[in-house]
Amino acid sequence: MAVLVVGGAGYIGSQASRVLRKHGYEVLIYDNFSTGHRRLAQGFEVVEADLSNTAQLTAALQRVDAVMHFAAHAYVGESVENPRKYFRNNVEAGLNLLNACLDSGVKRFIFSSTCAVYGVPERVPISESNGRNPVNPYGVSKMFFERALEAYDRAYGFRYASLRYFNAAGADDSGEIGELHDPETHLIPSALLAVAGQRGELEIFGTDYPTPDGTCIRDYIHVNDLAEAHVRALAHLSSGGNSLAVNLGTGHGYSVKEILTAVEKATGKAVPAKVVPRRAGDPPELIADSKQAETILQWRATRGLENIVQTAWEWMKRTTPSLAGS
Ligand code: UFG
Repeated sequence: MAVLVVGGAGYIGSQASRVLRKHGYEVLIYDNFSTGHRRLAQGFEVVEADLSNTAQLTAALQRVDAVMHFAAHAYVGESVENPRKYFRNNVEAGLNLLNACLDSGVKRFIFSSTCAVYGVPERVPISESNGRNPVNPYGVSKMFFERALEAYDRAYGFRYASLRYFNAAGADDSGEIGELHDPETHLIPSALLAVAGQRGELEIFGTDYPTPDGTCIRDYIHVNDLAEAHVRALAHLSSGGNSLAVNLGTGHGYSVKEILTAVEKATGKAVPAKVVPRRAGDPPELIADSKQAETILQWRATRGLENIVQTAWEWMKRTTPSLAGS
């Protein structure tokens, strides 16, 4: 079976491409390299094109049986400041892909969704039965796409898996794959960069949240675990399983301060940090209830926070020449 991995030169898409290949799938990457990296797609056949390029999309779709869609902007803060960018890429370009799939008869679709669709959840841990009520444009864009998939399922017999990631983090043990964002805004790599003297102090966004230490709590999930879940979801759809929306998290939450402690443990160095006001669009606490993924996909996260921070640190040392030997 052949899979088109849209956004396969990105952080999670490139890892999923490797896991797909390991499981015997043929992989064709589709990426415009606007935020993806050539080094992450090395060793794969790549179609370098934009999602607005219907001719290229259609040609690529002729060659595959299923699509995994990773190509999206994913910064909560940026989406608040520049919603137009998020709706253009995550909604308009995404719909172009979805319609090209429909026209090409490719009806198995794995979608990178997010816990941001829940907004400020009614209950934590968050199960899939929580209402979707996103509080930032990024979450709105992802919820829209989930709804489009639901409508295409009912109307056209699409089979989809909306995989609601919690906080993706960590790097592959091989050292080939890790986070390479520019600018880097995510907590763990930002804290590691601060330790390494590659940026200024880490800013802790708010210590006045209703959590035990006042900082936000998140459920950090290793990128390898996430990638594995995609392959399980594809197998589920391929064996006739129904469309589904499931959380992908570990079920454990860590505060920003706890993350900084884990970074200090992994690196043996203090994280230079200062407290600043809250960042717009951040819910206080997001922890997954992942029972549904366990039941339906027989999937559960295998790696914990220590492994996430350690592999992220190894990756950073490898990709930052000035840190060699740290
Ligand atoms: N944080 C800081 N300082 C930083 C960066 C982050 O204090 O320099 C805090 C944030 O306020 C948040 C936590 O660390 O509480 C994690 O922030 P990230 O930016 O690493 O990740 P987000 O939680 O904002 O984003 C993640 C995913 C999104 C998903 C979102 C749901 O990347 O795809 O969770 O809110 F939508």
